[in-house]
Amino acid sequence: MKPRLRNDRFLRACRREPVDATPVWFMRQAGRYMAEYRAIRARHSLLEICKRAELAAEVTLQPVERLGVDAAILFADILLLVEPLGVGLEFAGGDGPKLRHPVTSAADVDRLRRFDVATELGYVAESVRAVVARLDGRVPLIGFAGGPFTVASYLVEGGHSTDFLATKRLMYGEPEAWHRLLSLLSSLTSEYLRLQIEAGADAVQLFDSWVGALAPQDYRRYVLPHARAIFAPLAACGVPLIHFGTQTAALLADMRSAGASVVGVDWRIDLADAWQRIGAGAAVQGNLDPVALLAPWPVLAETARGLLRSVANRPGHVFNLGHGILPHTPVEAVADLVALVHEETANRVGPT
Ligand code: CP3
Repeated sequence: MKPRLRNDRFLRACRREPVDATPVWFMRQAGRYMAEYRAIRARHSLLEICKRAELAAEVTLQPVERLGVDAAILFADILLLVEPLGVGLEFAGGDGPKLRHPVTSAADVDRLRRFDVATELGYVAESVRAVVARLDGRVPLIGFAGGPFTVASYLVEGGHSTDFLATKRLMYGEPEAWHRLLSLLSSLTSEYLRLQIEAGADAVQLFDSWVGALAPQDYRRYVLPHARAIFAPLAACGVPLIHFGTQTAALLADMRSAGASVVGVDWRIDLADAWQRIGAGAAVQGNLDPVALLAPWPVLAETARGLLRSVANRPGHVFNLGHGILPHTPVEAVADLVALVHEETANRVGPT
C-alpha cells in the first residue's frame, strides 16, 4: 500500500485544480551543484547510483530534504533505456554520455538488440519502490524518460550534439529507417514509463530536450506520431503526463497535441504567451532561465515574482526552470527561491 500523500499541490496543479500555494520543483534538482550529491558521486559512478536502489533513493531524496520542493524526481538518466539495445553506453568522466556503437544507417537500426523492458530495466522499478517507501507520503514522485528525438540524437550522434547533423541526415535521407528507429524507441519508452507508474510514480515526464532543433513541419512529420504513440497507451493510467523540450516556442501547440496534460516551457518565451499557444485546457511548467539562479538575489527574486505575476491566479502552473539546474548553481539560492514561490503564492492562487 502506498502511503497517503501529505503534499499534493504538485498533482493538483497538474490537474488544474486550486492549490494552497504554487508548487515548485526543478529539473536536475539532484546533481553536482549539491555537496551531498558530490559526496556520493565521489564513491560511485553515475550508472552505479542509478542501478542500486538504495543509492538512487538517497540521491532522489537529497533535494526534497535540502530545498523543500513539492515533488521528487527519480534519480535516473534518459539513456538507461538505450543501454540494453547494445550500443555500448558509457558516462566517461565529466564530458557526458558516449556510445561505442552509434546508429547511423538502416542496417544499424535493424541490428539493435530487442529486449524486455521489465526484465532489463527492472532495477528502475526497484528504485521507484525504494523512493516511494522513503518519501513516506511527503511529496509525489515524478518518473521520466527521454523523448524520441532526443534519445535518437544520442543514438545516432554517439553523444551530445549541437547541430544534430548525423541525426537529421538519417531522418531526411533514410526516412523509413528513421521511423523504424523511432517506433522502436516509442514502444520501449511507453512500456518503460508504464513500469515506473506501476511501481509507484505519481506522474511522468517525457524529456524531449533537443526537439526544438526541428522545423515545425519536420516535427509533425518525423516526431509527433511517435510522441503520440508514447502517451496514448498511458492515458488510462490516470497520472499527469508532462511533455518538455527546449527552444520549442514554435512547437508548443503541436507538442500539446501529442497527448500530455502538462507542457514544459523554456525561458525563451513569456509564460503567458506560451500558455496561450498550448491552450487553456493544459497545465504549464516552467519557465525561469536556469542562469537566473546565479544572479544576485534581488534580481532573481524580482524575475521570479514577475513570472508568478504573469500567470497569477490561474490554476495549473507548476513553477520550474526552463531547463535543468546548472552545476555552478549556489544551493542556497535554490532553497531561497522555493521559499519565495511558496510565500508569494500562499493562499492567493484560488479557484477561478
Ligand atoms: O532531474 C533529476 O534530478 C534527475 C536526474 C536526471 C539525470 N539525467 C541524472 C544525471 C535527469 C532528469 C536526467 C535527464 C537527462 N539526461 C536529459 C534530459 C534533461 C536535460 O537536461 O536536457 C539528458 C539530455 C540526459 C543525458 C545526459 N546525462 C547528459 C547530456 C549528461 C552529461 C551532462 C552533465 O551534466 O554532465 C548526463 C549525465 C548526468 N545525468 C548527470 C546527472 C546528475 C551528471 C553527472 C554526473 O554526476 O557525473
